[in-house]
Amino acid sequence: MSNRKRRELKENSCIKRLAEVSIIAMVLSLTGCSGPLSTLEPSGPHAQGVAWLWWGMFWFATIVLIGMTWLWWRAMRRDGTNTAPEDLQKKQNSWVLWGGIALPTGAITLLLAFGIPIGHRMLPLDTDGVMTIEIEARQWYWQVYYPDLDITLIDEIHIPVDTPVNFQISSQDVIHSFWVPRLGGKVDAIPGRTNQLRLQASETGSFQGQCAEYCGVAHTYMDFIVHAHSAEDYAAWQEQATDEPRIIDNSREQSE
Ligand code: CUA
Repeated sequence: MSNRKRRELKENSCIKRLAEVSIIAMVLSLTGCSGPLSTLEPSGPHAQGVAWLWWGMFWFATIVLIGMTWLWWRAMRRDGTNTAPEDLQKKQNSWVLWGGIALPTGAITLLLAFGIPIGHRMLPLDTDGVMTIEIEARQWYWQVYYPDLDITLIDEIHIPVDTPVNFQISSQDVIHSFWVPRLGGKVDAIPGRTNQLRLQASETGSFQGQCAEYCGVAHTYMDFIVHAHSAEDYAAWQEQATDEPRIIDNSREQSE
């Protein structure tokens, strides 16, 4: 067997091994994309938009990666070239033009064209008649206040299903981040500032939320739960909650 043939065989088996390892790694990492904190298991229109965007980016990046790997593989196997210097310059220019300018510009334009409207829908732009919940982050819990009901809860949010809800998010101490992956985007809770977010659940159930910004030793435990109820269940919860004494009495007044 000639040296060249031997080298080709070795290269082919390396590429095959690499492809196998990549596929296994990809499947393994994708299995981690489900569960109560997964943006890829959306349960509301805003979270659905985020999931679509994620999959779009994933497939686009996969195509680019495969294309680049293929080009690299071809380049590695080429036996020298007799291209004239002026042709070589042209080729190099076209690589810079297409690979260095056109590809990233196209990718960023596509990302913005889809990403901006999705982000826009998560903003509570029209507030008329939309239910509002005020969230105040503290080391290390979430204080949830319903201005219409005058109820304060800790680490627990109740919302009606299929209804947009506006969240006004702030912090009492350091920067935290309010995130319910299955219902929508993530927003920072910043002291002295109120950030807005709109969430909506398209099915009843309980959805886990988590502080997504490192905020001190108990950051990991700074989780909360969003219960999405049917209209009747929500009315029943509201009635029961307003009957009961508030969980934290006057905590808002004290904090102000
Ligand atoms: Cu609050 Cu991390």
